[in-house]
Parts: sequence; C-alpha cells; structure tokens
Amino acid sequence: MSGSTAATAIEPPESYWERRRHIAAQAAGLDRPATEIEYTDTEHEVWATVCSTLTPLWDRYAATDVLVGRDRLDLPKDRVPQLRDVDAALSPLTGFGYRAVAGLVPSEEFFGGLARGLFSSTQYVRWEGAPLYTPEPDVIHEVMGHANCLASPEIAELHRLAGEAIGRVQGEAERQFLYDVFWFSAEFGVVGLANGHAPAVKAYGAGLLSSPGELEWFGDNAEIRPLDLDAMGTIGYDIDVYQPTLFAGESLAHVLDVVGGFFAEASDASLASRLSVPR
Ligand SMILES: [Fe+2]
Repeated sequence: MSGSTAATAIEPPESYWERRRHIAAQAAGLDRPATEIEYTDTEHEVWATVCSTLTPLWDRYAATDVLVGRDRLDLPKDRVPQLRDVDAALSPLTGFGYRAVAGLVPSEEFFGGLARGLFSSTQYVRWEGAPLYTPEPDVIHEVMGHANCLASPEIAELHRLAGEAIGRVQGEAERQFLYDVFWFSAEFGVVGLANGHAPAVKAYGAGLLSSPGELEWFGDNAEIRPLDLDAMGTIGYDIDVYQPTLFAGESLAHVLDVVGGFFAEASDASLASRLSVPR
C-alpha cells in the first residue's frame, strides 16, 4: 500500500518504464530470498534525496518508538539497500522478513505474507524527475517507510495480527473493514492523544512517514480523532489526497491494545455485527 501526495503533471519517459519492468522481472516472490538488484547511480541519488528530505521531518513528526526502531535498523542513507540486507537487519529485531514482488500484489497475498511475518516489497525506484512523489509503492515507500516502522515490535505485531485477521475473514465487506482499519493505523496512524486533546501528535504510519509533503501538512490541517474502530472501518478514504481525518492513540502500546486487539478478535460474525450498525 502506498502513501498519498500531490500528483505531478509530467510523465516519466519510456526508458523509466523499461528499467522498471527489468527490475520487476527479477522479483523472487514470497518463498525465496530477494534477488540482488544492480541499482544505478541515479537510483541511489533518488534514495539519498528522499532520505535527506525525510530525516529532519521524522525527527520532528515521527513517534519516538519509530525513531528508536529506525536507529536500530540503521538503513543506509546514501544508497538503495538490497532487500536481502533489509531482511537480515530487520528479522533479528522483530522477526519480520522482506521478500521481493514485481508490483502491487492482491491484498490476500500481501496480508497472507504479513501473517507469516513477511513484508512483500517492490524493488524498483520512483522516477528521478519527481523524487518526493510516487503514485504507487516503490522500494523507498516499502523500505524507508515500512521497514523502519517494522523495526518497532508493536508495529510489527500490528502487521502480523492484521495479516492473520484477513486470513480468517472471508466476507468481502468484512475484509474491506479490516483493510480500512489497517489504512488508518499501519499506513496513516498517529499517536499522542492526551485526555482527548492532540497537542502534538506524531506519526507511526508508513504512508504518512514516507510522504514529506503530508508529514508537514497533517499536524496543522488534518482532523485528529481518538481511535474509533467503527469509524476507521467505515468512513472510507481517497488515496490520492492528503488524509483529512486521522485517528490517534495515546501510545503505540495503546494502539496495539485497541487496534491489535481488534484484529486478533476479528471474525466474519464480529465484523458483520459492526457493519450492521446504521451510521
Ligand atoms: Fe504501504
């Protein structure tokens, strides 16, 4: 899943798509270690540009647990890491591994991987003409965003529980409820709610954390609501805009308790009863 940023008008040249197809064709899938990609200097520069843009923003707007995880994972700042190296660095921290996929995978496959403690990541890099924007998940969103977050035990457990819940639930509307709660937590979650007030909420969602523009925007502009599973599962969202509504927990432990607890208990019956409540 990817973050939301303002779209760009300029389209990448055909040479970019050709390069991307070449990288996608080397994706080893969920059941084998990722293949080594020979990144170009330009691709390394895009990684370095996004990293140097995001680092000061993370220091201001990221949740403390995420910063601790980031520092423990210690990803390179100047070059695109190989997924095998991300896998080797992350699994001792929270048991999560990284596998390479060619592009967006069906939700069932993505969440199936999460249930097994595996994150499905693309290996291609966004176009160098718009380094701070990606219309869909690239290796920068998947690694700089999700891997740094998955280095925090609570966030790793939240991903695992979400994956297991999707594996248990069959109903389409019931699954959509789970996907949406995942969106408003693992992708766009914030913490820092104190006594119903949100003086300075901090981000823990990978979609928010991998989007420089939205990181600077959400604090003053988004409506921050307390965790509300029924609202998170039903209000819906537009992936192409900055998220106008976010849901804040008091801490990551509180998020894991409420949202993780919800995922752990989720079944077709429990979700059907939530969905039957008129709104
Ligand atoms: Fe994502």
